[in-house]
Amino acid sequence: MLRSLVVLAAVCHVLAGAPLYGQCGGTGWTGATTCDSGVCTYSNDWYSQCLPGSGGGTTAPPTTTATTTKATTTTTATTTSGGSASSNLPSTFKWSSSAALIGPHSDSHNLAALKDPSIIFYNGAYHVFASTAVSAGYNLVYLSFTDFGAANASTYHYLDATPIGSGYRAAPQVFFMAPQNLWYLVYQNGNAAYSTNKDITNPAGWSAPKTFYSSMPAIISQNIGSGFWVDMWVICDSANCHLFSEDDNGHVYRSDTSLANFPNGMSQPVIAISDSNRNNLFEASNVYKVGNLYLLIVECIGSSGRRYFRSWTSSSLTGTWTAKTATESNPFAGASNVAFSGTPWTQDISHGEMIRSNVDQTMTISPCNMRYLYQGISPTASGDYNALPWRLGLLTATNSPC
Ligand SMILES: *[C@@H]1O[C@H](CO)[C@@H](O)[C@H](O)[C@H]1NC(C)=O
Repeated sequence: MLRSLVVLAAVCHVLAGAPLYGQCGGTGWTGATTCDSGVCTYSNDWYSQCLPGSGGGTTAPPTTTATTTKATTTTTATTTSGGSASSNLPSTFKWSSSAALIGPHSDSHNLAALKDPSIIFYNGAYHVFASTAVSAGYNLVYLSFTDFGAANASTYHYLDATPIGSGYRAAPQVFFMAPQNLWYLVYQNGNAAYSTNKDITNPAGWSAPKTFYSSMPAIISQNIGSGFWVDMWVICDSANCHLFSEDDNGHVYRSDTSLANFPNGMSQPVIAISDSNRNNLFEASNVYKVGNLYLLIVECIGSSGRRYFRSWTSSSLTGTWTAKTATESNPFAGASNVAFSGTPWTQDISHGEMIRSNVDQTMTISPCNMRYLYQGISPTASGDYNALPWRLGLLTATNSPC
């Protein structure tokens, strides 16, 4: 009798589905593999998660064998689709959004906002670095969690208390420089800065800021107008590391140095892409490797002042960028292609980062079941830009091609 009760209890436990944002699969996972709410969505071989939306719901890992068929390099550059044949990216993007998931804690830091997230999934946990905002300015925070439902309750490690130090630091990007066996945090501090750490789980291990340039490069000061130099982003191919940044004035800049020499020797930047209307090419660029292509997204300011992202692709990081989904009505992500359950908590889809398929300097993403952590804000918020109450939410692709 007792034994059968125990067995029954065990069976019931196994049959119960995981909650929204709970784990529902992964190597070694012995818990629920169905979802009470949401769709069990593959993240990587170690982690599947119940996410809102109906798209791409499968626990089966996507085939991770990158297509080795090189894009036929005919010179007819009329592929406005951005050559999806070699990237498997969908021709347009469609997303569903979570509610606001991560915001400031009520603590002595009295933050107005959490912003500009960088995210990786590593060793069974998400690791998020974000800007902290108060009207006096910006610094950085690190948090780690195993499911998004628990993220807002996780410990916030304020990085001004580490060798990164206090003062203006914002818009972090985290990655693992595999050839150096070292984590990098790239961020803005008035210049393009970085810190390094041997152990991503140890916030105190970050080194003091160093900069990629001795001062603002001449081409940026010549073009920046009344903008700001922001949102540095590093991505490396097999030979070189490239540093992208924007100026809030219609220019995306790119520098490079050899993979072997990184982080030293950054070249003077060139303008990678520009627009005479600064709102159409504003800030927060991300560049990813997907299949045989590179995907560039840039945050823009829409007709009603709301933020959204345009996208481009290129077969090379130094190459010409071809518009992919580059209008407000057909964006990478914006109010027009993001669905919410209930009243949207934000009409801005602003600065964020894709959850990558690995953590290294190649910034590789999968076109399957894409997820993008972004910042949004109540449509009724107003006031001092630095004190606006930005929160973080998660987009999940609803038209996953695989
Ligand atoms: C996160 O937790 C804080 C309390 O520490 C709370 O005020 C806030 O509403 C929570 N959620 C978000 C998305 O900020």
